[in-house]
Amino acid sequence: MKFRAWLGAAVLLASPLAASAQGELVLYCTVQEEWCRPMVAAFEKATGIKVLMTRKSSGEFYAQLKAEAANPKGDVWWGGTGDPHLQAAEEGLTEPYKSPKMAELQDWAVKQWEASKGRTVGIYAGALGYSFNTTELAKRKLPEPKCWADLAKPEFKDDIQVANPNSSGTSYTMLATLVQIMGEQKAFDFMKAMHKNVNQYTKSGAAPARAAATGESLIGITFQHDAVTQAVGGAPVKIVSPCEGTGYEIGSMSIVKGAKNMDNAKKWYDWALSVEAQAVGSGAKVSYQVPSNKAAPVPAQAPKLTEVKLINYDFVKYGSSAERKRLLTKWDEEISKLPK
Ligand code: F6P
Repeated sequence: MKFRAWLGAAVLLASPLAASAQGELVLYCTVQEEWCRPMVAAFEKATGIKVLMTRKSSGEFYAQLKAEAANPKGDVWWGGTGDPHLQAAEEGLTEPYKSPKMAELQDWAVKQWEASKGRTVGIYAGALGYSFNTTELAKRKLPEPKCWADLAKPEFKDDIQVANPNSSGTSYTMLATLVQIMGEQKAFDFMKAMHKNVNQYTKSGAAPARAAATGESLIGITFQHDAVTQAVGGAPVKIVSPCEGTGYEIGSMSIVKGAKNMDNAKKWYDWALSVEAQAVGSGAKVSYQVPSNKAAPVPAQAPKLTEVKLINYDFVKYGSSAERKRLLTKWDEEISKLPK
């Protein structure tokens, strides 16, 4: 065999081995794709581990973990609202783990870990709200909405976009928030009235912020940090912290029970709690959440949670599987089936 041909064959044979020398990691990612990708690249660079990543919404991965319980395919579920991570923990779909990084975390992140008996941990926090397109609002000479109650007003017919709470953790947070602020009956009455104004229930929670940014929808209900991403990108949007108060998320991370790549799952988990990893999203200007590592940089544009009228969100109640099932069944029956 000529030297060049021999070299080519040797490279072909060697490269798959080299690529998998540190093994693989199957990552279920529930932040927006623009943040998942640089996280994967940074971890691969730091460890040499090959990451196979998929992005889906919180409710979708929660359902997938259940469906795959007998033969788990994912190793780590990183990101997404804390409620479905707590529900997965309650159902034994995730693995308890104590990272050496725990001492570096904010209290709210550790509380999430304690509430789940070590099966999930907080990685970031952010408040719910909505944003509107200022150019469109001015064109139509409408008053600025300031409260949740404003979203049920007839002048906003077909002007609101929000995700479906079955797939989206953001929208489940809204459902649970409204129930906690208004009481269940009034919250459902409000959502029925707002239904007339909803132009689309999207699959992903952050999509309505993009729709408000482009003017495709006048208003988008999302976490406030997702609207910040649009504003920083130059979109004409104003962010609203509803006057009645609002809920928030403790974005979380869990290791899948029976993960095939358990050692690498723990390596991701420890790394994802480090300052270095928690600076990736803000460095790439794709994340404006508050990070859980106390020493991680908080982006200047991140909504200041101390200035938002936050409710005392009951994570234990609304993070329980029975309450999730009950509220979503009721939403399916009483809201999504309603004609407009
Ligand atoms: O990454 C943006 C984000 O809003 C996170 O803060 C949140 O945990 C996640 O998306 C929720 O996504 P979804 O509503 O699609 O489940």
